Amino acid sequence: MADLPPIVSPWAKDFPALGTQVYGRPLVYLDTAATAQTPTPVIERMTQFYQRDYASVHRGAHYLSAKATEDMELVRTQVADFINAAEASNIVFTKGTTEAINLVANSYLRPKVKPEDEIIVTEMEHHANLVPWQLLSDLCGVKIRVWEVNNQGQLDVAELKKLLNNKTRLVALTHISNVLGQV
Ligand SMILES: Cc1ncc(COP(=O)(O)O)c(C=O)c1O
Repeated sequence: MADLPPIVSPWAKDFPALGTQVYGRPLVYLDTAATAQTPTPVIERMTQFYQRDYASVHRGAHYLSAKATEDMELVRTQVADFINAAEASNIVFTKGTTEAINLVANSYLRPKVKPEDEIIVTEMEHHANLVPWQLLSDLCGVKIRVWEVNNQGQLDVAELKKLLNNKTRLVALTHISNVLGQV
């Protein structure tokens, strides 16, 4: 099979690892959902923070603490604008996907669900979007229903319509599957 040309994104220059070679070829990195490479401007800003601005947020009355709090809240507002959230207070920072989904499962859904209720996940979910619902099911009896992929590895919305009913409390699905590349 002929070699494919490397995919070069306009942002590649911000990721020095992508300019390196492994096994005699340009490095290709596809594990971002697990550990994302950090772009140089972010590394530089983090270094500046550690060297110059480091302090507790929302917890100190001194100058650096107030500045760190202000800087962090500015990022919350920027993220809210970027994803078009209604309010900055809708943005909750977590250190990963599993933690974020456990938070939704336990703080948002757990107080609301009854044993007869249902959660729908797709067949192509990573454990991060499966285990939190299984644990919730063990605790509260809520049922997990699986939206299966078809023979082409695709999700058919007509199948989802068959699973949705008045017991559905949440539909939890990946944006892009790391298993099938399905969007
Ligand atoms: C595709 C995918 N989704 C989710 C996760 C879970 O991410 P986290 O470690 O942030 O909980 C991983 C981690 O390997 C992953 O590869």
